[in-house]
Amino acid sequence: MGLKWGILGLGKIANHFCKDLLLIEDSDLYAVSSRSIEKANSFASRYNSEVSYGSYEAILEDPHVDIIYIATPHDSHLQYAMAAIDAGKHVLCEKPLAVNYAQVSRLTEAAQKKGVFLMEALWTRFIPVIEEVISKIKGGEIGIPTYLHSTFSFFKEIDYTSRLFNPDLAGGSILDVGLYPVFLCYTLFGMPQSIAASGIVTDRGIDLQMTALLDYGGGSAQLMSGLQTDCDMTSKIYGTEGQLIIDSRWHEAQSYQIIKPNEEIRYKHPTIGRGYAHEILECMKCIENNQLQSSKWSHQDSLNVIAILDEIRRQVGVVYPFE
Ligand SMILES: NC(=O)c1ccc[n+]([C@@H]2O[C@H](COP(=O)([O-])OP(=O)(O)OC[C@H]3O[C@@H](n4cnc5c(N)ncnc54)[C@H](OP(=O)(O)O)[C@@H]3O)[C@@H](O)[C@H]2O)c1
Repeated sequence: MGLKWGILGLGKIANHFCKDLLLIEDSDLYAVSSRSIEKANSFASRYNSEVSYGSYEAILEDPHVDIIYIATPHDSHLQYAMAAIDAGKHVLCEKPLAVNYAQVSRLTEAAQKKGVFLMEALWTRFIPVIEEVISKIKGGEIGIPTYLHSTFSFFKEIDYTSRLFNPDLAGGSILDVGLYPVFLCYTLFGMPQSIAASGIVTDRGIDLQMTALLDYGGGSAQLMSGLQTDCDMTSKIYGTEGQLIIDSRWHEAQSYQIIKPNEEIRYKHPTIGRGYAHEILECMKCIENNQLQSSKWSHQDSLNVIAILDEIRRQVGVVYPFE
């Protein structure tokens, strides 16, 4: 019998996730839940889910659900992930795992105490290109890496009904997409010695743009996120013996290049589906091996990244009404 998944919140990412889930053997889309039963029924028939629920509470009471995937806006991750943990379910929760360090700590401690698997859905960590980039950089392929430039920005018309621009739902670029360059930087270089960040903040208190300079003593990183400009969506790592460029859009990359004097090689590694399949496979592997966290994206990794994001938000001046 495969792992039985339950989906909590049926928005944009839940659709993408379920398409990839259907590609994986030994993982079953068993139940879906929405605040609306009509939406849940139509989602269930679209993706062949056995059961549909018109409330989030109901899916957590279903004893057949092994793992809950939480796909609601950021502000509610703490509440629903905590409820799923309390119900004894394993949890894969969308990024950011929660809005700030204190919230993420509460979740990681609760999961450890309850003895259930918990992972932030930092899917980019598991796609084949990023796996190989990490091993090439750490293996010294471009010598000593001294500079990283990473961006994640796109133009979106300001729309206060969208979660992206709504402070009550923890909107803004930093937590939604700034998290990706921060994740890459942290994964390759670790915790910075210092951070200098600035940004553009709306009168409703969410950031439209963020730029951060992370200093590592022997190296540095320039990271940018935004909701008001399209950017090339590459990430570039420069080292003493060459450059590594993760092709656009780097967070879902299918290829990367290594450029050295007299040598330019492009490596191609397609994802399974859109790329969410790889985090699903990681969850399955961990649960099968009775691991309560992934060694590739651990609780401490989520805590470290949210600590960097907290500091960036503090400097940019973004505080959510519920904090
Ligand atoms: N990994 C990725 O590539 C990726 C991409 C996009 C987003 N995300 C993450 O996934 C989460 C959801 O993003 P999304 O783009 O899928 O958002 P979305 O399209 O707005 O969907 C969010 C869903 O959450 C539920 N929900 C519960 N409380 C809500 C509230 N107060 N307001 C609005 N919706 C509420 C709704 O589902 P029901 O109506 O069914 O209850 C809604 O459809 C975010 O945390 C985001 O960071 C990840």
